[in-house]
Parts: sequence; structure tokens; C-alpha cells
Amino acid sequence: MENHIFGLIKEEKNRQESTINLIASENYASKAVLEATGSVLTNKYAEGYPGKRYYSGCETIDKIEDYAKDLGKKLFEADHVNVQPHSGSQANMAVYLSILKPGDTVLGMGLGSGGHLTHGHKINFSGKIFNFVPYNVNPENELIDYNEIEILTNQHQPKLIVAGASAYSRIIDFAAISKIAKDNNALLMTDIAHIAGLVIAGLHPSPVSVADFVTSTTHKTLRGPRGGLILSTAEYGQKLDRSVMPGSQGGPLMHSIAAKAVAFEEAQTPAFKEYQKQVVLNSKAMCTEFKNLGYHIVSNGTDNHVFLINLKKTCNSSNNELSGQEITGDIVERALEKAGITLNRNSVPFDTESPLITSGIRIGTPAITTRGFKENEVKQIAHWVHEVIKKRNDEMFLQNLKEEINIFCKNFPIY
Ligand SMILES: Cc1ncc(COP(=O)(O)O)c(C=O)c1O
Repeated sequence: MENHIFGLIKEEKNRQESTINLIASENYASKAVLEATGSVLTNKYAEGYPGKRYYSGCETIDKIEDYAKDLGKKLFEADHVNVQPHSGSQANMAVYLSILKPGDTVLGMGLGSGGHLTHGHKINFSGKIFNFVPYNVNPENELIDYNEIEILTNQHQPKLIVAGASAYSRIIDFAAISKIAKDNNALLMTDIAHIAGLVIAGLHPSPVSVADFVTSTTHKTLRGPRGGLILSTAEYGQKLDRSVMPGSQGGPLMHSIAAKAVAFEEAQTPAFKEYQKQVVLNSKAMCTEFKNLGYHIVSNGTDNHVFLINLKKTCNSSNNELSGQEITGDIVERALEKAGITLNRNSVPFDTESPLITSGIRIGTPAITTRGFKENEVKQIAHWVHEVIKKRNDEMFLQNLKEEINIFCKNFPIY
């Protein structure tokens, strides 16, 4: 069918195929995941849970959701799973509403340190409804400061601690945070939206055995459809399910749940594990290349799929070609887009720029690894990014590079 929207979808597919995607939270879902997402399951209302629906005609739907739950439980080795959250934010909301009352105190990582909006930011429902106390990374080494978490927990006696991040490049010691929570009778929710794929592949310690709740998106390193999921201990399963539906959602997106099951199937394969290993190898290789070019990397490196560059600190140091210049995340993001490289500007710890401008950029390797880039290609990309930053005002250079990148990308088709 050719109409306006299908023309635009084609245009967007072409953009994805012809540009380099360094956005850490994005990925390319498989054709099978796309097929399930675009299936007739979108037609069905199925409020409730398998065997307990508020609509008839759910026999097949029940089989799909039961299958997704079984796979999800097996994959994460969890006692209980809910696959209905429409997104990562909805998953977090459902956990909060299952155990907290408005005004309750919660500890969550500050946005500037790498936490997510739903971990208590003032402009988000989380920060409006609950009394979130932020913890931050250590200003010296830019690593999570477990001592600070302990001190704040002792001081504020939160009902819940939230651990997990959108922009943190190091292994998170979930077991250490769990101990602090237990010692203070607090519950622990870990948000593995970004690192779910790494957790499944055993490249990041799983929080499942040490947390009361684990939330995730399904579309980042997990490479499934857009959506969320929640794992919990058996103790909280029933409360949690009621908090998702009827507590905070209506009908489940069955097309998305089916696509989650397809993604879970894919995540069980050896190829998925190999893919996650390469994601980390690529991230480390690119990060090292940037370091060699004189860039300041937040926390001085990466253990996972993402790292952050502090442009301000880079310009303030004397050992690179950008010394003394004024460069923000916003400027770099826009120049790179003109050259066919997409990424996002990102606040760095204790950033003095606003979240709209920022002093940093976030670089992730999940998407480029899916399309087959390895160490050689990611090192090349680091050099392209560097050239763009240096020649950010040279429109002709940016245009020529865009064409070069377009040709380069043709060797790595996505679909
Ligand atoms: C750590 C974390 N939690 C939750 C979310 C929210 O997910 P969604 O965009 O699906 O609501 C994100 C998304 O970026 C995230 O990074």
C-alpha cells in the first residue's frame, strides 16, 4: 500500500540504513520481532491475565502470554514475571504503586549521575508523587559511591532503593546495594533497561537473586519490540500483577507481548551471547580510541555497551586538538547528524550546562554491533566523530562525510 505514511516509513528505513547509530538505547529488532509487532494481535482486547480475562476470544492470546512469561522466567531465572508493561516507565510506575504510598521516601540515582527520569526526577511522576532522595557518583572517580548510598539510606530510611541507570558505563554492584537495603529494611528495585541483554549473556551480574523487583525495557540491548517487563520474587508477584492491571494499565499490547516472546527466543541462542560480547568489545575499543585522541571519558572507561565523553573537561585539558575551545553536547550532536552519525547529547556528572545543552555526549554500541560492525569499524567511527568535532562548522566537509558514511553503511545492511 502506498500512501503518505508508508512513504515516510520507507524514508525512515532509508535513514536507518544509511547512517551510523550510536544512540545507546536503540537497536534494530529482527524481522521476526517486527513481524509479530505488526501482526493481527493488535486487534485484540485482553484486559486481565491468562485464564482471567475480561473479554472473550482470548484462548490463543492466553497461550501467547503464557509462553512469553515462561520464556521470560527461564531467561532471567526469576520466580515471577509480568510481560504487560507498555514501556520501561510503565514498569517502574507499576512497581512503585505496588508497594509505596504517595509521599514515601525512595533513594534513586540522580539524573546527572546517569539515573533515569523515572528514578525520581522532579518533573517526572516519580518525583512528584514520592519523596525521592538522589544519590550521585563520586565527583573524583565518577563511579557509584556505595558509601554514600549507605549513609543516605541510614539517614533517610527509604522504603525502597532504586538501582540502575540510563547513562552509566560501569558494572553496578547490585549485591552491595541489596545488602544496604536489607540492613535498613528497605526494598530494592533494580532497573536493567539498558543492560538486560548483557545480564542474559552473563556479561553483567544479574540482580535477580538479590532484588525484590527487576524492571527492564525490551528494546535496548535485549533487541526486542518497544516495551517493558517486570521480574519479582514470588512474594510480590500478586501485588505486582494487580499494580500493572488494573492499577496502572488497561488492555495489554498483545502484538508487543508476542514480539517480546520472539525476542526471548532469540536471546536464548548462542548467537545472542556472541552478539553481546561483541557489543562490549566494540564499546571498549571505541572508548580506548577516544582516550587516545585525548578525550575525557566519564569514569575513565567502560565495562558495558555505553560510555560518556565530557567535552568540557576535554577542552579544558591541554593534551588534545580541542584545548581551549567551547564545545557543548548540543553542538556536537547537531554537527554529527549532518554527517550521518546519530547520538545524543547527555549531561555528565555535576554538569553546569542545562540538560538541553549539556557538556557531554553518550555513545553506545548495541545498534552498530547488530549491523555487524567490529573493532576496526568502531575505531574508524571514533576518528570520524573526532573529525566532525574539529570541523563542525565546515558544511562541505560534513556533507562529503555523510556521503562517505552512506557508502560505508551499504556494506552493513540492517534488513
Ligand atoms: C534505565 C531506564 N529505565 C527506564 C527507561 C524508560 O523506558 P521507556 O522509554 O520505554 O519508558 C529508560 C529509557 O531510556 C531507561 O534508560
